[in-house]
Amino acid sequence: MSAESAVQAAYVVAALLFILSLAGLSRHETAKAGNAFGMAGMAVALAATIGLAARSSSGTGVALLACAMVVGAAIGLWRARRVEMTGMPELIAILHSFVGLAAVLVGWNGYLSVEARPDEQTEVPAGLLGIHSAEVVIGVFIGAVTFTGSIVAFLKLSGRIRSNPLMLPGRNLLNLGALAAFVGLTVLFVVGPTLGLLAAVTVLALALGWHLVASIGGGDMPVVVSMLNSYSGWAAAASGFLLDNDLLIVTGALVGSSGAYLSYVMCRAMNRSFLSVIAGGFGNEGATASDVDHGEHREITAEDTAQLLKEATSVVITPGYGMAVAQAQYPVAELTRRLRELGVAVRFGIHPVAGRLPGHMNVLLAEAKVPYDVVLEMDEINDDFPDTSVVLVIGANDTVNPAAIDDPGSPIAGMPVLHVWEAEDVVVFKRSMSTGYAGVQNPLFFRQNTAMLFGDAKERVEDILRAL
Ligand code: TAP
Repeated sequence: MSAESAVQAAYVVAALLFILSLAGLSRHETAKAGNAFGMAGMAVALAATIGLAARSSSGTGVALLACAMVVGAAIGLWRARRVEMTGMPELIAILHSFVGLAAVLVGWNGYLSVEARPDEQTEVPAGLLGIHSAEVVIGVFIGAVTFTGSIVAFLKLSGRIRSNPLMLPGRNLLNLGALAAFVGLTVLFVVGPTLGLLAAVTVLALALGWHLVASIGGGDMPVVVSMLNSYSGWAAAASGFLLDNDLLIVTGALVGSSGAYLSYVMCRAMNRSFLSVIAGGFGNEGATASDVDHGEHREITAEDTAQLLKEATSVVITPGYGMAVAQAQYPVAELTRRLRELGVAVRFGIHPVAGRLPGHMNVLLAEAKVPYDVVLEMDEINDDFPDTSVVLVIGANDTVNPAAIDDPGSPIAGMPVLHVWEAEDVVVFKRSMSTGYAGVQNPLFFRQNTAMLFGDAKERVEDILRAL
């Protein structure tokens, strides 16, 4: 077998392993195996690519490749070890920006080594030059949109900029105009590629990526992260065409299509229009947080909450991002055990976007050994709140906000939420009256049957355990 066929065979094996990885990651029982397949696929792909590079480049080229890999692996290992679970979405967002930047650099390199040297003999036959130019300009465009879009997502998710949507006048026209300009510039570039045209496409795409994600509100950020995941896949596929690398094309297409499907599933779960979110919040005009005076809130102590729980027959716990921040899952698991010993039925209600990652709450509760059978999805538990004695809202806010149902002008209007207010009593654990991730005030806190238990969620649950 020639070296070329060995590399192609390795690419096929790696592609199959990536497909098995995606299949494994779709269910939590097989997720670990899915990860293992993905790592094995990446190892095969890297070995084949290094082997190919070693045959076709000089010793210096291979040494540079090895250095880049060592530095990249060291940074990757260091970040992966240090990252908190709550910091995962922002890490994923910044990693997507690297894929976008790489696609831009590959595109520019393609231009500089082919179109910029019209008098020299290149690998691209004259008849295919137009296709090469189209690949360059499309790769640069997708890469640049992914790059700046992911940077804005990173800044919003890490709280470095506000998560409110940027509302420029005529923003939909701006997006449509940028797309039309891109089509025009692409035609011009294919007919006569010049440095100026490529620079114009790059600047246009950088601005469009920034604007698209800046226009999307905090509540829709989960969809944005999976959408950027999809874009980064298409950016990698575009680079695959330019580099003539089949594995990169297949892998990019797998990431692109699975990310698009995940975005679609999330939009359905959150009752959002897929097209409206990917078009940068199109159709979301006028949705602003209202400054209505909701009245006074009522406070409760940990001791009184313990008393309420002792007298309850059924309790539902709805955790959110604050439980993850406080690492309150261990005392919460202990509280569940103690209440069940006292004969109280305890269940959990999990919103599909509670926390900052799909499945974030399920992972935390599983880590603290809460039995799976008492952890229910939002749709499974939403009809049971009227028969519930006490709901403990532990560090959740947007996911239990009745404004999503009652206030059509709210930025989160239409998003399905947990109907916790239908229970007899609701106790909300948080540190202040501040808003949740979407920046919207929560009328739940001012309802007659709601009491606020202020402080760090972990400390307050421990206080309740002591009082019990
Ligand atoms: P959020 O709306 O983010 O609210 C969390 C609440 O926890 C805050 O109001 C905060 O109030 C409280 N908190 C923070 N630290 C705390 C601590 N140590 N002890 C007690 N309370 C604490 O939470 P949620 O209901 O889980 O909603 C998730 C939001 O994130 C949604 O808007 C969703 O769209 C968005 N999002 C989700 C994802 C995914 S995929 N799940 C990804 C990106 C964004 P205080 O500051 O007053 O304590």
